[in-house]
Amino acid sequence: MVKVLFVCLGNICRSPTAEGVFRHHANNAGIKDGFTREMFIDSAGTAGFHLAAAPDKRAQLTALKFGIDIGEIKARKLAQEDYADFDYLLAMDSEILRYMQGKCPENHLLKLHLFMSFSETSPGISEVPDPYYGEIDDFDIAYEFIDRAAQGFLKHIQNKHNL
Ligand code: 4NP
Repeated sequence: MVKVLFVCLGNICRSPTAEGVFRHHANNAGIKDGFTREMFIDSAGTAGFHLAAAPDKRAQLTALKFGIDIGEIKARKLAQEDYADFDYLLAMDSEILRYMQGKCPENHLLKLHLFMSFSETSPGISEVPDPYYGEIDDFDIAYEFIDRAAQGFLKHIQNKHNL
């Protein structure tokens, strides 16, 4: 099983969107996810501001425009065990990546990546901008970036893991 964790700050905007969008594309490609399946997909935040909260309403509405329901996701804080437990820990921006690099045991450092580095259609863009303090348009932009990176990442792991 390949285990993938999307990581942002609050786990209520970007990473639950990435979780839902990536699950959608993976499922459409015939890849099943869940505890006993080919892939396990999850998300977490480096801060614990919104523990157990559902995603921000604006993030939920943006994903719903594309038929993706992320309403059941509950925010959780990134845990130290996650570095050993997951195969890929995908940071939404450089600050999150640096935070994780500071906490991650050395033998798991190669599992950490900037999520946008997998986008084949966003040259020069390395981060998903945080829409939390922005307007609804900022959620549309974040969604577009996430969707591109999710498709690129799916291709990457399909090749690498023969899925
Ligand atoms: P996220 O966005 O990291 O994409 O979930 C944020 C959510 C909450 C806060 C900041 C960013 N906050 O400061 O509460």
